[in-house]
Amino acid sequence: MMKKKIAVLTGGGDAPGLNAVIRAITKTAIREYDYEVIGFRDGFRGVVEENIVYLTEKEVSGILPRGGTILGTSNRDSPFKFPMGNGKFEDKSDQCIQTILKYAETLISIGGDGSLMLSYELSKKGLPVIGCPKTIDNDLRVGDAQTFGFESAYSFATEALDRLHTTAESHHRIICLEVMGRYAGWIALYSGLAGGADVILIPEIPFKYEKIIAKIDRRLAANKKFSLIVVAEGAKPKDGEMSIQKHVVASIDPVRLGGIGNIVAQKLEQMTGRETRSTVLGHLQRGGSPTAYDRILSTIYGVSAMDLAAKKQYGYVVTLGSNNKILPVPLAEAASGIRNVAPDNGVVMAARKIGISFGD
Ligand code: F6P
Repeated sequence: MMKKKIAVLTGGGDAPGLNAVIRAITKTAIREYDYEVIGFRDGFRGVVEENIVYLTEKEVSGILPRGGTILGTSNRDSPFKFPMGNGKFEDKSDQCIQTILKYAETLISIGGDGSLMLSYELSKKGLPVIGCPKTIDNDLRVGDAQTFGFESAYSFATEALDRLHTTAESHHRIICLEVMGRYAGWIALYSGLAGGADVILIPEIPFKYEKIIAKIDRRLAANKKFSLIVVAEGAKPKDGEMSIQKHVVASIDPVRLGGIGNIVAQKLEQMTGRETRSTVLGHLQRGGSPTAYDRILSTIYGVSAMDLAAKKQYGYVVTLGSNNKILPVPLAEAASGIRNVAPDNGVVMAARKIGISFGD
């Protein structure tokens, strides 16, 4: 008898834990449900180009701690507006659905807001899809659940802050650390708190230079001659704009943020006369091994996605509820926008109470 088949792809920017999810899906599919597993390479590009790999236990052996994705990924190949390489775009969505259904009965789409939005659009056209919430940005609308990759990213940013702390202190400098997160400040907020930052600037709370300087001055008055500032790439001054680094035309969201860390550092040096430096953490936050918790989260998400697939419970994204039980959230909800940091989030409130400034 022909075995049932499940297809998997990883889409959008990579994140630590992707391989752990692929491993969990593959093991669960084979051991628990006797399915065959097909991986599409490089996100939806692999679907359009029918670039597949059969995933067996051998293929996924040893990949739990490995960063990146063995399937490859892409954050610029929408099936609805597929770049043809000649500056032109074509709608390949019907072809994509046919190809996926040729190889499998269901697609497990491991991705962030862009890939889940595309998956939702494909599901509306009839594709059976289950989503798995990935992103270092932690900005998916999946209730209170954490996305995998987030903890690894902010742990790395925390380590960077620890390192900057000692050099800032030795040189009596102000140091700005720019972290990723797009339009949400989760990485800045969590790493800032964990890394003992003095100021945290996030997109959700526009800042004023005078307020940052007031905090630096309070520290100087207490004989603390250095200050650490975490700047989310999407942070912006009150009455100012986000700093855009470039536009990637073929991407679902073409805007690439970046540069605000430098801008803040220069402005503070000008305004205070104190030596200021900036560091941009960039893609270091996306690479490397997932933390232990991200490995656990990724494994539970992978197992749960396969459980839903076997039950034919399509159109959901897997998340965690109480007692670490699977809590499916409708794909429509996850695809409806991003999850920002609420200014009254408990972490923000705790940070304020211990004297961290948000520049407001
Ligand atoms: O969404 C993940 C992310 O790393 C963002 O934090 C960042 O803004 C963006 O992707 C960078 O994209 P790229 O890899 O295309 O430079």
